[in-house]
Amino acid sequence: MDFNALLVTDSPERASVSSISLEHLPSHGNVLVRVDWSSINFKDALAVTGKGKIIRSELPFVPGIDLAGTIVESDDPEFPVGSSFLSTGWGVGEVTWGGYSRYQRMKSEWLVPLPDGLTTRQAMIVGTAGFTAMLSLQAIQQHGLARDAGPILVTGATGGVGSFSVMLLAAAGYQVTAVTGKSEASDYLQKLGATDVLPRSHFEDGARRPLDSGNWAGCVDSVGSRALEAVLSQTMTHGVVAACGLAAGHELNTTVFPFILRGVRLIGIDSNTCPQGPRRKAWEGLRDLAQKVDFETIAHDVCLADVPKACDQLMRGGIQGRYVVDLREEG
Ligand SMILES: NC(=O)c1ccc[n+]([C@@H]2O[C@H](COP(=O)([O-])OP(=O)(O)OC[C@H]3O[C@@H](n4cnc5c(N)ncnc54)[C@H](OP(=O)(O)O)[C@@H]3O)[C@@H](O)[C@H]2O)c1
Repeated sequence: MDFNALLVTDSPERASVSSISLEHLPSHGNVLVRVDWSSINFKDALAVTGKGKIIRSELPFVPGIDLAGTIVESDDPEFPVGSSFLSTGWGVGEVTWGGYSRYQRMKSEWLVPLPDGLTTRQAMIVGTAGFTAMLSLQAIQQHGLARDAGPILVTGATGGVGSFSVMLLAAAGYQVTAVTGKSEASDYLQKLGATDVLPRSHFEDGARRPLDSGNWAGCVDSVGSRALEAVLSQTMTHGVVAACGLAAGHELNTTVFPFILRGVRLIGIDSNTCPQGPRRKAWEGLRDLAQKVDFETIAHDVCLADVPKACDQLMRGGIQGRYVVDLREEG
């Protein structure tokens, strides 16, 4: 059986659609899956464009850190043939071949049974980005931030993590201030639930002083670097900041003052290795959100052949919301 996959090679064009067969797939894994939908995340864009060292395996390689579809062969009773699954993280699309292929071999420990009430397409509109936003919301709630504590910032707000963070925080009853570099995005962010929208320029020069006015009860930060430095200096007493990204850079120059004089909590979020218990709880929360919010408002469809172009666009910070990859016609 032949089917299509997006292969990254050492050729000048780097990523292109190729016809492959089951024998080409890696031999590891106890489950064969048919992929209906995948998505495009920041990591995928780094892998496809080659702008970051995300692929930690030999070429040719199939990227795609997210996938959802149907079990085709399995020796795991939790994932019977014909059942639906989703998968994010665990190094899939970085260390082992990922979701930009109509068929893939997976270990069942990387899979989550598709929650009742969620479609495979909705699961991939969410993908790693929305899952990370849910882990960030849960961290904020677990650290006791009351809904009336004050405004919560979301940086990189029109991106995948950012869009879902705005939706999730607003749906949970928090007041959301979205921070964006896109001057035209106010309507979009307000429709997602933001009360206020601020330009990225307010934060991109970093902290003006170690402790600035405490304006924010918390933050979901997918930008890092100078923006996170500024956010920490402006977080209120006992505020909670969830650090989940590095769209602007990985460095962080700060002081201990926000932590020891205001009790600010800086919480790290890692979706890749999130254990199964909290992972499934987060997906149940996302399934509940899908009953209240129309995910389609932030979704853009692409086919496999258009993934490289969309990844270029994402690397330039030029996309809004979530790109979902339709693999249903690929074999
Ligand atoms: N910790 C985890 O488990 C985890 C999981 C998923 C993603 N991440 C990380 O989270 C970040 C966002 O991922 P994503 O998939 O949401 O990517 P994305 O869709 O490309 O969103 C990133 C957003 O950040 C803003 N941005 C881009 N370049 C920027 C710059 N130079 N300075 C400031 N803001 C910039 C843009 O939003 P505006 O134009 O609205 O400002 C952009 O849309 C990435 O660093 C990714 O690696 C981490």
